[in-house]
Amino acid sequence: MKYVWVIGASTGIGEAVALHYFNLGCRVYISARTGAKLEQLAADHNQYDESDGKGMLIPIEMDVTDEFSVGSAVQRIQDIYGKLHKVIVNAGTCEYIDDTQVDLELVKRVMDTNLYGAMRVSNYVQPLLDHDEQSQLVFISSSVTYQALPRAHAYGGSKAALRYFAQCLKMDIQHQGVDVRVVSPGFVKTPLTDKNDFDMPFMISSEEAAKRIGKGLEGSSFDIHFPKRFTYTLKLFSLLPNAIKFYLLGKASRANADSIKEV
Ligand SMILES: NC(=O)c1ccc[n+]([C@@H]2O[C@H](COP(=O)([O-])OP(=O)(O)OC[C@H]3O[C@@H](n4cnc5c(N)ncnc54)[C@H](OP(=O)(O)O)[C@@H]3O)[C@@H](O)[C@H]2O)c1
Repeated sequence: MKYVWVIGASTGIGEAVALHYFNLGCRVYISARTGAKLEQLAADHNQYDESDGKGMLIPIEMDVTDEFSVGSAVQRIQDIYGKLHKVIVNAGTCEYIDDTQVDLELVKRVMDTNLYGAMRVSNYVQPLLDHDEQSQLVFISSSVTYQALPRAHAYGGSKAALRYFAQCLKMDIQHQGVDVRVVSPGFVKTPLTDKNDFDMPFMISSEEAAKRIGKGLEGSSFDIHFPKRFTYTLKLFSLLPNAIKFYLLGKASRANADSIKEV
């Protein structure tokens, strides 16, 4: 029996990833701040008996920005079984910046969840990772880290820092039998992207994203990115000379557009 913990599992990519592992017969701890959604998810799916080959969803409410909440959740998991084979740190939030005056409270909110929250979970969860069976510690970053994009100062910054953190952590713990990975999705249809008011090319469903994450984690790539048409385009774009990139991307900056209007 494999034990998986998906953090940020109440909606979107995290929910789909949790169901992916549930369908493979794993026991999946599902965490987020909204306990009611987790309970509902478990009630909707935990109706199979073991002969169906399905696993079990185990709701554990948790806020990654809260030290006590993360500590208590890890303690509960330790009390239930004690070991984890896969932890997917997916909780995230996105807020954009449309002004040349940066709202530091906004930046702190985004960093608190996307970066410090992920680091906090990593600290607490490491003792629970099964070192005998090459466990995986997976951080959901973003393809926005391949190329800085307008408005993404806080979001892109948090995800770039998360990627850097994951790389450092991998160097530190790979020899202990822990396989650290990063996932860098392009656009995925979820409640997070439903709020966006701009074109999102090559968008895929959260179920498709979960399939690609599952497949990627069976392989050996450190950075699992998809859809390839989008991520390779972004990577190629990032190789252009800076002057061309800033000229083209500057046109998409709303702060820049406003200042042009004001002149
Ligand atoms: N959708 C995309 O196109 C896309 C692209 C690249 C990367 N990503 C990343 O993928 C991850 C999932 O995004 P999504 O699009 O699926 O968004 P989503 O549907 O909004 O899901 C975010 C999940 O994180 C949870 N969460 C948020 N803040 C939390 C906190 N402080 N503590 C614990 N859980 C928290 C949310 O539940 P509660 O609100 O109940 O806590 C929810 O379950 C994020 O890290 C996002 O940055 C998404």
